[in-house]
Amino acid sequence: MKVIYADHAATTFPRPPQVIEAMVNYLRHIGCNPGRGGYRHALDAARLVYEARTLLATFFHVPKPEQIIFTPNVTSSLNLVIKGLLKPGDHVLLSSMEHNAVVRPLMRVAAERKLQVEKLPCKPDGTLDPKLVQNALRPNTRLVVLTHASNVTGTLLPVYEIGEILAGKDIFYCLDVAQTAGSEEINFQDLHCDYLAFTGHKGLLGPPGIGGLCLSERAAACTLPLVEGGTGSRSDEERQPELLPDKFESGTQNVPGIAGLAAGIKLVQETGLEKIKKHKEMLIAAFLEGLGSIPGIKVYGTKIPSKTTATVSLNLDGIDNGDLSFMLEQGFGIMTRSGLHCAPWAHQTIGSFPQGTLRFSFGLANTLQEIEEIISALRTIAAEVA
Ligand code: ALA
Repeated sequence: MKVIYADHAATTFPRPPQVIEAMVNYLRHIGCNPGRGGYRHALDAARLVYEARTLLATFFHVPKPEQIIFTPNVTSSLNLVIKGLLKPGDHVLLSSMEHNAVVRPLMRVAAERKLQVEKLPCKPDGTLDPKLVQNALRPNTRLVVLTHASNVTGTLLPVYEIGEILAGKDIFYCLDVAQTAGSEEINFQDLHCDYLAFTGHKGLLGPPGIGGLCLSERAAACTLPLVEGGTGSRSDEERQPELLPDKFESGTQNVPGIAGLAAGIKLVQETGLEKIKKHKEMLIAAFLEGLGSIPGIKVYGTKIPSKTTATVSLNLDGIDNGDLSFMLEQGFGIMTRSGLHCAPWAHQTIGSFPQGTLRFSFGLANTLQEIEEIISALRTIAAEVA
């Protein structure tokens, strides 16, 4: 059976051949540890990592490459921010669309360090009024942490407007760009943000197991590393070096992952964000239109394609979304994700808690033909369960 992959919000698939080749090239021809030796292969590995860091700095408009640190994933990056920055008594703002990658570490730290955590209510379509941020600021507000786009509905939050509100204040601003890196313009400097937590395996087209964090200089100075150890630098010192990126990068890195990520970003740059965004908007517009013709479908989130990523959440009357996901895969080869998507707060916000939703999320490789096939499959199942 032909398959249709519609779970790009979980991870990109299939991986571009250039990404696979870059990883194989490292493993086959370089293979050694960056920053740990002066021989040619170790230097080649160090150069590869440096070039990837430089590429990311250019891509996200970060002033210096050393302000990018590599981590295994966006969850690790967010844990570093939350556990490395916050102090007892701090006030933290976040939205009601956040993923558990923010909620869970924050709840632990809040209990242990007696933080004041304030959840800003998003509207049922997932949007957030920036004035809520302005009005919630307090003298002890230390961190505002927001997702750029919900992984459940795709709804984009007004992160640039909120950046303007926070600019020049003694408040750290952290964005989770897991769902938008590689499809939305993300300018670290224009956002006035201090932390940009990203993952490599979604819109950036890289492999799983590689992500990172862009930090402002003030954020880097105020954040404690979660992991300390060998950095290949200042090895005579017993304390973790303060220099970047070494302060936050201990132990052998995921160099094949970094090689694959760099290849993925180059592909995104060659294709162009504008073209990627247009393609996704076209798919979403066609999908929403098709869904409108099927009785019993409830679509969540904003229905304006330019205000979402290529993600749509829905439920169909008369069938559990997990069963619907199963039927789509078994009967039509269509791969989706059902349930709560590790984001129960988002489902509470949009009114789909605790049952969750069926989520479709599209990538550059998806076509209009596939959208039509998904609509046709949903129409068939809707008629069966009606
Ligand atoms: N956070 C990813 C998702 O939304 C894995 O599916």
